[in-house]
Amino acid sequence: MPESRIAVCRVEKKDRPYIEEKLKKYILDATNIDWQQFFVLKNSGKTVAFGRVVDHGRYFELASLGVDYYHRGKGLGLRMLNFLIEQARQLDCNKPIYGVTHRPSFLEKAGFEEVRACPEDLEYKRNYICKLDASKIKIMKYYA
Ligand SMILES: CC(C)(COP(=O)(O)OP(=O)(O)OC[C@H]1O[C@@H](n2cnc3c(N)ncnc32)[C@H](O)[C@@H]1OP(=O)(O)O)[C@@H](O)C(=O)NCCC(=O)NCCS
Repeated sequence: MPESRIAVCRVEKKDRPYIEEKLKKYILDATNIDWQQFFVLKNSGKTVAFGRVVDHGRYFELASLGVDYYHRGKGLGLRMLNFLIEQARQLDCNKPIYGVTHRPSFLEKAGFEEVRACPEDLEYKRNYICKLDASKIKIMKYYA
């Protein structure tokens, strides 16, 4: 995919319905939506991926990451994930970065590893907020 066609930017108002629809469809985290947290990846001006950086105070969480079904397998998900990591690091490079996911091997591609000890809020999210079976959901931490 030519580099010049791809751009990652903050979400615009017109992107919101698309993201809301996909969060439902892909069963992603749609809790406490704050649009300031979201970024979108555009391919030739068309929004095809999205994700957010949630600042929990003591740590960051990368969440609600999705790639349009028809654009998967082209490296865009990893591109979005690396962008979110960079955003979090620019905000505070000393804060740990976590992800709660049913796709651990995808996060591993960017340098995340599963952790047993994690912030209580994330454990709560895994057990009570995520809609999938908690045993399938891993809490991952980014190791630079
Ligand atoms: C998971 C998701 C974001 C991946 O996006 P994508 O654009 O297809 O991923 P990429 O093409 O960037 O793949 C990057 C790497 O991750 C791997 N990967 C992609 N999807 C994966 C999955 N579902 N499970 C495990 N590994 C996966 C790829 O094999 C690739 O590895 P490689 O570089 O060694 O070939 C996308 O399938 C999606 O939106 N799924 C629904 C929403 C979801 O599950 N979000 C949770 C993300 S934590």
